[in-house]
Amino acid sequence: MSNVPVNQYDAMAKCYNLLMLGGYYDYRAQAQTLATLVPAGAEVLEIGAGTGLMLRELVALGYRVTGLDHTPTMLDQARDLLGPDVPLVEADVTAFDLGRAFDVVLSNGGVWYGVWWEDGRHGYCGHLPDPDAVDRSLACVARHIAPRGRLILSLQDAHRDKSMPLPEDVTYTQRIHDMDNGVFDKEYIFTRNSDHAQLCYERLTLAYIDTGRFEGCLGAAGLTGPRVSEDKRYLVFERA
Ligand SMILES: C[S@@+](CC[C@H](N)C(=O)[O-])C[C@H]1O[C@@H](n2cnc3c(N)ncnc32)[C@H](O)[C@@H]1O
Repeated sequence: MSNVPVNQYDAMAKCYNLLMLGGYYDYRAQAQTLATLVPAGAEVLEIGAGTGLMLRELVALGYRVTGLDHTPTMLDQARDLLGPDVPLVEADVTAFDLGRAFDVVLSNGGVWYGVWWEDGRHGYCGHLPDPDAVDRSLACVARHIAPRGRLILSLQDAHRDKSMPLPEDVTYTQRIHDMDNGVFDKEYIFTRNSDHAQLCYERLTLAYIDTGRFEGCLGAAGLTGPRVSEDKRYLVFERA
């Protein structure tokens, strides 16, 4: 087993906010749903917190937040956005120990997340192509969830090729390359329209995760569920 971190977002970090705030995610709508799922004043750990866009919404809602991510250039932007009062931890989700538990752990399109299949069932996907690493990450995260605490995962459509216009004369294109056992590569390409210059390019290896194994791991760690939020944006697991 290699300890080398995979799927860091270094090459696309400087284009990330342009994409996300250009319509890839709707953070305001997501935050409105989270406000119905996260008890007032709760302490929230976001894993795969990236540039802190979701954490910013949570702070505005009055939650006490901590962010964790393994890409230093993403965390640098989060620090600029959130200021010194928000703790940000550089760590890999498969092996971290913050020494305490949180009311809620959130993964918002982060290390792993839910996906909707075309037949209406949900599944799981993430940035850890090795299933054993997924198991380790789930066990590690579960240790950070307090009694009666929650694990909340965002839900999105399964990945497909697409292109979308962004502000600042930029077009974003993503290409999906399927491999074996649910593993796929995703290319993130940012091009300036006026001269076709490539501004950022990243190729990551992601994977769909076996639903029974994912939910079984969480069940073994004492987390039951999931239930789906009314607007179908989030999955919620709860500790008894
Ligand atoms: C799509 S971004 C999501 C960022 C943020 N949650 C948001 O909603 O904008 C995924 C993030 O997960 C992080 N990530 C991926 N694998 C990770 C791992 N093994 N440990 C910690 N962070 C990881 C990446 O560095 C990246 O910042």
